[in-house]
Amino acid sequence: MSVTVLVGSQWGDEGKGKIVDILSENYDIVTRYQGGANAGHTVAIGDKQFILHLIPSGILREGVVCVIGNGVVIDPTALLEEIELLRKNNIEVDGRLFISHNAHLIMPYHKLLDSISESGENKIGTTGRGIGPCYIDKYARKGIKIVDLLNRKVLQEKIRENLKEKNNLLKKVYGHEELDVEEIIKQYVEFDKAIDKYIKDVPSFLNNAISEGKSILLEGAQGALLDVDHGTYPYVTSSSPTAGGACIGTGIPPTKIDSVVGIVKAYTTRVGNGPFPTELTNEEGEKLRTIGAEYGATTGRPRRCGWFDAFLVNYSAMINGIDSVAVTKLDVLGSFDELKVCVGYELNGKPVKSFPTDVERLSEVKPVYEILPGWNSDISKCSSYSELPSNTKDYLNFIAGKSGIKIKIISVGPKRQQTFFAE
Ligand code: GDP
Ligand code: IMO
Ligand code: MG
Repeated sequence: MSVTVLVGSQWGDEGKGKIVDILSENYDIVTRYQGGANAGHTVAIGDKQFILHLIPSGILREGVVCVIGNGVVIDPTALLEEIELLRKNNIEVDGRLFISHNAHLIMPYHKLLDSISESGENKIGTTGRGIGPCYIDKYARKGIKIVDLLNRKVLQEKIRENLKEKNNLLKKVYGHEELDVEEIIKQYVEFDKAIDKYIKDVPSFLNNAISEGKSILLEGAQGALLDVDHGTYPYVTSSSPTAGGACIGTGIPPTKIDSVVGIVKAYTTRVGNGPFPTELTNEEGEKLRTIGAEYGATTGRPRRCGWFDAFLVNYSAMINGIDSVAVTKLDVLGSFDELKVCVGYELNGKPVKSFPTDVERLSEVKPVYEILPGWNSDISKCSSYSELPSNTKDYLNFIAGKSGIKIKIISVGPKRQQTFFAE
């Protein structure tokens, strides 16, 4: 039995949702550990497509228990909508979904402040889901937590206290109209009634489960390069998507983590602003976007697309301690004559030794490419490694070697059956 962390290895949208769904067949519990409804994890089952923002992608596997850890920031509206959507599809969450009493709540002013700060200069290109402002309040020790819902008096006091400050800020600094305190209190009391049954002491629940020999898959959101500490700051999210974040965001200690699986897209994408050395702003980038359907699962924004960056994935493998990798969207590369792979960077004509996360240097680096032949065929119907064209195998071996990763799973389409083990 094992405890596995699953992380995005690039800038998010690597196909985590699909691979969590595949792997969760063999796990008892799937737990989200950070982020919020900024995430959009897609799972395609038959003709249906589910986009999960807060509930772990394991919910689509019968019998799998799903947990939202303390590291996640919860938007009540998004959560209730998601529960409703699942119910409409005959997927019952009661008795299978648990939420940490220590998770923080996204409040209406978080979303408002997110959109106000994005309307000014120096935009990050956030998803507008209130993520940054909510984590700001968490670390400023002003946040409102799930546990606060359980005590109406405390809840009211905390909302009133926060609103005093936020309304001041909204009115005096931003010239925005004030928010209605009573309305917000009413809304969160209603939310409490709907979610009381899911609230749990998650660290005890998960650690007891481990003692009983149960297996746990920890589902990261976003990706390593969006990590607030290890990513391309300030063009990052406000949480810790890297593997270390899984311990903080759940209460499972590092000594109980057995392995880390990295999800690696066969090329690179990024949504929002910030440096992206292998970005293609030409027809090839457009081709990747069209064939790969690279539009945000949460916001619908077109994703920026570029060649595979082995230098970046090598850095990601190091900070996450990745043991094995699932390579996704390999099918998308099926109509290119040549494929470029970035094997390093140069800065002012000199090779860069280690991955620069500061935007000043990362914006200036020149990728060093090696060119590989494409395979010019549709591999989306392949169902085993041996069926792949030899050029595809060579591409996989090359990116694995240059990134220092071990590929275990290969994905050639959005569906469950378009997945197989690497040799
Ligand atoms: P996540 O945020 O990491 O879960 O990824 P997203 O769901 O935001 O984006 C991945 C997109 O690629 C989704 O639309 C998936 O259905 C799709 N997808 C996943 N794996 C594959 C694959 O191997 N090939 C193709 N063509 N699409 C894939
Ligand atoms: P999944 O889990 C891709 C990006 C935003 C923006 C930056 C900060 O689906 O891979 P935020 O709203 O978090 O304050 O935005 O992070 N971002 C993502 N990009 N996939 C995601 O999630 C993302 N979640 C946030 O585009 O650049
Ligand atoms: Mg996504």
